[in-house]
Amino acid sequence: MKALILVGGFGTRLRPLTLSVPKPLVDFANKPMILHQIEALKDAGVTEVVLAINYQPEVMLNFLKDFEAKLGIKITCSQETEPLGTAGPLALARDKLLDSSNEPFFVLNSDVISEYPLKAMIEFHKSHGGEASIMVTKVDEPSKYGVVVMEESTGLVERFVEKPKIFVGNKINAGIYLLNPQVLDRIELRPTSIEKEVFPAIAGERRLYAMVLPGFWMDIGQPRDYIAGLRLYLDSLRKRTPSKLVSGAHVLGNVLVHDTATIGEGCLIGPDVAVGPGCVVESGVRLSRCTVMRGARIKKHACVSSSIVGWHSTVGQWARVENMTILGEDVHVGDEIYTNGGVVLPHKEIKSNIVKPEIVM
Ligand code: GDD
Ligand code: MG
Repeated sequence: MKALILVGGFGTRLRPLTLSVPKPLVDFANKPMILHQIEALKDAGVTEVVLAINYQPEVMLNFLKDFEAKLGIKITCSQETEPLGTAGPLALARDKLLDSSNEPFFVLNSDVISEYPLKAMIEFHKSHGGEASIMVTKVDEPSKYGVVVMEESTGLVERFVEKPKIFVGNKINAGIYLLNPQVLDRIELRPTSIEKEVFPAIAGERRLYAMVLPGFWMDIGQPRDYIAGLRLYLDSLRKRTPSKLVSGAHVLGNVLVHDTATIGEGCLIGPDVAVGPGCVVESGVRLSRCTVMRGARIKKHACVSSSIVGWHSTVGQWARVENMTILGEDVHVGDEIYTNGGVVLPHKEIKSNIVKPEIVM
């Protein structure tokens, strides 16, 4: 079985992290976002993944080469010379997606995180006999997504409305699709949107079906949602594989600490924290609702909450980093500094307080 991941886009809303790597390579819960997806695809029986990409394919491929071997899965790139939207890339990768098996293939948005119930989706797709299946999930604010109106009992999609201006329903497209090869015959090689052109057409012919996604879902393409997504992800890990979370007197709630990270004496960590590979958390540190990425150091008695500390950054002694502060790669926050919601570009040194949310260049 094959799959295509829509990787394009510059990830501007996740800056400064995406100034260092393409969005799918930003770590989430201690591994690059895209690995969560590739591993789930592999588990569901996918043997070949096509990355539909419109910039920096070398960076992605170099990174993923290791995983091709480790996971035993073929990963190739399909590169656009101009952004082709969310459907055009399927036309471009047509030859890679088609083969004699005539099997359906998966398509994933690269910025969503969930339990990826892909095996259940295959069963659902077989059961309805339509041309395409999409996963949907309920949200409170449907207007920023694609809204799906469906027949509850069968899943038959009656309407698909991308980013509706007026309320049509609260079930939204989760960005996870299983498509029959025939869908490719509907897509021309030009910039085009699967949400605005392809899905409404298939729904019009009553051949589009939706499955309500069990478990959590989040689009983690911006910092606030990224931090909220980590909480949901760790909650789900607690239910599925609690042994992956750490426990002890210094831990509160759900906490993920990489095996190669060290935690000093007298710390209090949690809830909803991920500490990445090679991180050093010195003694007396307080971490809550935050991500500390690979190679970072949090010095004695510092406090980090509701924030992201980028790769190889340091937070000084007695410093307070809070309220959606995002430190890019290799940022150094001085001792006793207070940051309230700053977005700090890579390779900066912070020597004075950031008292209100601002971008530090
Ligand atoms: N290759 C390629 N080329 N990929 C692209 C391009 C492009 O020109 N444009 C967007 N993508 C990729 C993005 O990287 C992302 O993985 C996916 O297509 C969706 O694009 P977004 O820009 O993230 O769209 P969105 O979040 O506003 O809306 C989409 O996702 C929602 C769920 O998060 C839609 O699919 C909505 O219907 C859906 O509800
Ligand atoms: Mg998105």
